[in-house]
Amino acid sequence: MKMTHALLAAATATLALATLNNAGPVHAAPAHLAPSGLMSLRSGAAPDADGAFATLVQFSEPTGEKLYRRVCAGCHMPDAKGTTQGAGFYPALAGDQNLAAPGYPLMVVLHGRHGMPAVGQMMSDEQVAAVVNYVRTNFGNAYKDKVTPEEAKAAR
Ligand code: HEC
Repeated sequence: MKMTHALLAAATATLALATLNNAGPVHAAPAHLAPSGLMSLRSGAAPDADGAFATLVQFSEPTGEKLYRRVCAGCHMPDAKGTTQGAGFYPALAGDQNLAAPGYPLMVVLHGRHGMPAVGQMMSDEQVAAVVNYVRTNFGNAYKDKVTPEEAKAAR
């Protein structure tokens, strides 16, 4: 039973990655920068102790903070300061004035932008709103107006 579960998790992770990579003309993150949740699954690991793992169509992380760490930090870095290491350019979200209008990060997460895949396609409306609200109220950003799941749904 346990084995079947691990195999299934590995297979769905591969599919989730394929979805990410096929989301458009995007550059895959260098291996050392890939989102950690996907990384651990790609190697066939079982879900982590905190219960976070990726399913076929959706990330299971419950909070904006966990979503950030699992999905965004691999590219934007844990401190959200971004990086230009290697061939990639991953902009800082820390102290980012482009986050002032909530509709912009909402659209980027849902539809991707240049080198960023549309990771919001694998999240629920609640998760999209949660992670957008998280980056807009952390890392030196203090935008208090919250995005709602309804707004995330409408922006899909
Ligand atoms: C595979 C790497 C990758 C992942 C994962 C990723 N991003 Fe990005 N992100 C990028 C890149 C590259 C850009 C720059 C796009 C461009 O050229 O404008 C970007 C741009 C952005 C921007 C626009 C910043 C600005 O000032 O214009 C926001 C907001 C953003 N990302 C939020 C997120 C959030 C939130 C997550 C997690 C839910 C996330 N990103 C996950 C690579 C990634």
